Amino acid sequence: MTIPDKLSLAHLPTPIDQIRRIELPRGKKLFLKRDDQTGTELSGNKIRKLEFLLYDALEQGCDTLITCGGVQSNHARATAAAAAKLGLRCSLVLSSPTRVLPAGNLLLDKLFGATVQLVSPRDFGERLEEIMQQLADEATDRGAKAYQIPVGASNPLGTFGYFLALQEILDQERALGISFDTIVCSVGSGGTYAGLVFANQLLQAGKKIVGINISQTADHFRLITQQLWQGFSQIAEVNEDLTEPLHILDGYAGRGYALNTAEEVDFVRDFARETGVVLDPVYTGKAMRGLMESLKQNHRLFEASEHILFIHTGGLFGLFPKAEEFLLD
Ligand SMILES: Cc1ncc(COP(=O)(O)O)c(C=O)c1O
Repeated sequence: MTIPDKLSLAHLPTPIDQIRRIELPRGKKLFLKRDDQTGTELSGNKIRKLEFLLYDALEQGCDTLITCGGVQSNHARATAAAAAKLGLRCSLVLSSPTRVLPAGNLLLDKLFGATVQLVSPRDFGERLEEIMQQLADEATDRGAKAYQIPVGASNPLGTFGYFLALQEILDQERALGISFDTIVCSVGSGGTYAGLVFANQLLQAGKKIVGINISQTADHFRLITQQLWQGFSQIAEVNEDLTEPLHILDGYAGRGYALNTAEEVDFVRDFARETGVVLDPVYTGKAMRGLMESLKQNHRLFEASEHILFIHTGGLFGLFPKAEEFLLD
């Protein structure tokens, strides 16, 4: 198969830590792959995908990055940071129901010099392509060349990021002398999960890859995964169908994207106090809660799991604008 060229921006390999101070059903062990430590400004899962997309952008002679997401998008912040590092301009289209003070990721976007256009969730849903194209046209008018990156960098090229992450995990297994039977991640735009699934098939790794969706439905993301495979297999020059089972655990999106329930807030707080690890409120907090609840309920997906590796995909900055919700006492 062919793996496209990429930049090297993330601090890799990220560590794998065992979480020992949390009660788990007999015979099960939990490990964290610390992809929240891929960097500081460039922290989280997005940078693995951006390494491929930004190589492509530079190859095409682009000098301006345009991307989009929620107002606290980790992906948008990572793109803004990478743009500053590479000397590129960056325009972000961010969905926000209200005018907000720059905090968390939005503060960092501005610090990195990105141009931020806040749009209503309705416009984001209905006019995103048009708004991004308008920004690209404006760039062309000033003699610049724009590179558009979709939500979460989850396009076929971006999925190579987590294809290589699974390869990295297999190398670490050999060094650590552990074999993980189950790998769990949150599913937001689908690229992280898809990359792991594609690698599991093509590297014949034999893992159970479980995604936990934090918005939409499991069926929606099964379809996205199938669609990503079309483009991925073309780039990879692989001539086979996607045959991996697509395990996606539904039921933990709570009140919807970037909204939290009291149970989720309590879970993130308790997890921090018991382990010293901060999960984020939008992705990893919900997904880890889904994993813990499922283990407690003896969910069939994890019946045979003994060594479970949860991918901590980052998102810490998204916690700070939620300070009031997370006020502890
Ligand atoms: C911290 C964090 N974790 C997980 C995800 C989900 O990853 P993906 O969009 O590849 O499904 C995202 C972004 O969407 C994220 O910012």
